[in-house]
Amino acid sequence: MTDAALIARDGAALSPLQKLRFFPLAVTGGAGCTLIEDGGRELLDLSASWGAASLGHSHPVLRAAVDRALSDQAGASILSGTNEPAVALAERLLQLTPGAGERRVWLGHSGSDANETVARVVPAATGRTRMMAFSGAYHGGTQGSMAVSGHTAQVGVAKSGGLKLVPYPDPFRPFEGDASGAALLAHIEHLFATTCAGEDVGCFFLEPIQADGGLIVPPPDFLKRLAEICGRYGILTVCDEVKVGLARTGRLHCFEHEDFIPDIVVLGKGLGGGLPISAVIGPAEIMDHATAFSMQTLHGNPVCAAAALAVLSAIEDNGLAARAQSVGDVLMAEIASATAQLPQVGDIRGRGLAIGIELIAADSNAPDADLARKTVFRAWQLGAVFYYVGMHSNVLELTPPLILDEAEAKRGAAILAQAIEDASAGLVSDVEVEGFAGW
Ligand SMILES: Cc1ncc(COP(=O)(O)O)c(C=O)c1O
Repeated sequence: MTDAALIARDGAALSPLQKLRFFPLAVTGGAGCTLIEDGGRELLDLSASWGAASLGHSHPVLRAAVDRALSDQAGASILSGTNEPAVALAERLLQLTPGAGERRVWLGHSGSDANETVARVVPAATGRTRMMAFSGAYHGGTQGSMAVSGHTAQVGVAKSGGLKLVPYPDPFRPFEGDASGAALLAHIEHLFATTCAGEDVGCFFLEPIQADGGLIVPPPDFLKRLAEICGRYGILTVCDEVKVGLARTGRLHCFEHEDFIPDIVVLGKGLGGGLPISAVIGPAEIMDHATAFSMQTLHGNPVCAAAALAVLSAIEDNGLAARAQSVGDVLMAEIASATAQLPQVGDIRGRGLAIGIELIAADSNAPDADLARKTVFRAWQLGAVFYYVGMHSNVLELTPPLILDEAEAKRGAAILAQAIEDASAGLVSDVEVEGFAGW
């Protein structure tokens, strides 16, 4: 099915430190929403490399932009000289992102370095040493971004001394049995009034959909009400749009589904369409804190900036936000009808092309991680690529390229339902998935 030789070379040459493997996937090429496996088999990509390949693979607009930037290369960094694509990108992001007052943009390589920069600069600029985040949050894989995350995959990693984690509002597994989120908001208000003084808190990291924590969509108005509470204490809201931002949920920014405007917005993954680039957009009084405070040599390089500009243009020119909404609706409806008879499917949720399918035991709502593990493996055998997320490793996550079409959505839903059925029926053995740790 896949070329064992490439897998073997990968094993011998590449460190496992950065591998999160779910099945023996070895890719040699791709176009649109299709990945070509070593050996020529075509796979429907319903992950887009965790949302990074926002325009799919080998998109002509992206190829042209990168080619142009490289054929007349304006240096390789923004640190000690500026360049046109980086400045144009910052200007475009300021136009596209709502926010009050004077604001600035910081450009990085990844969601991790962007969130880490926020976690460093907010305490430094405000003098407030405490920070808030949600348990289940994945804000990155560097020391500073892990220090403000709350994902079970990072248990044991040192947290920021001032960090306070609170549960994420999960309507399927609600805090104190209250799916509206009101009890959780009261808990947070209580913390600010007592043991975690609101006046000491610099910022509150939030994901508008908690992605790696289980693709959890918060109840209506929760984020707006949270932002109001934060506003009363002068706490900056930091909206991590790294996975679900930039058109994926049917709006350019996912927070637009809620009637609130964050103080700081973090973008990454799909911004570069597969090239490494991230951005923080925030108030000048924070972002002007100091020169040379958070920099890496290749930050603001013109090639990745040109790629990001091309992605933003493609989203606008092709109406990709509206398309993500309509194709996402088809995908979700097809999954719902194809899995209607499967008691293992506890919940189907999401917005646009960010969809989670929570797998549970057939006779209770206990998470079924074994089924998730075997389902993604079986789906790969059947011709589709997607992975699972969640604090309990039991939520199938779909974040396909924004260019997915309806026929592909229908095909993907059919494969997904078949994979759950087959995995439940024991068609994937423990031995087959043994070498795949997942998370
Ligand atoms: C919401 C969110 N923030 C930040 C990150 C970190 O991004 P990266 O892995 O590109 O550094 C991720 C990665 O999964 C993410 O999902």
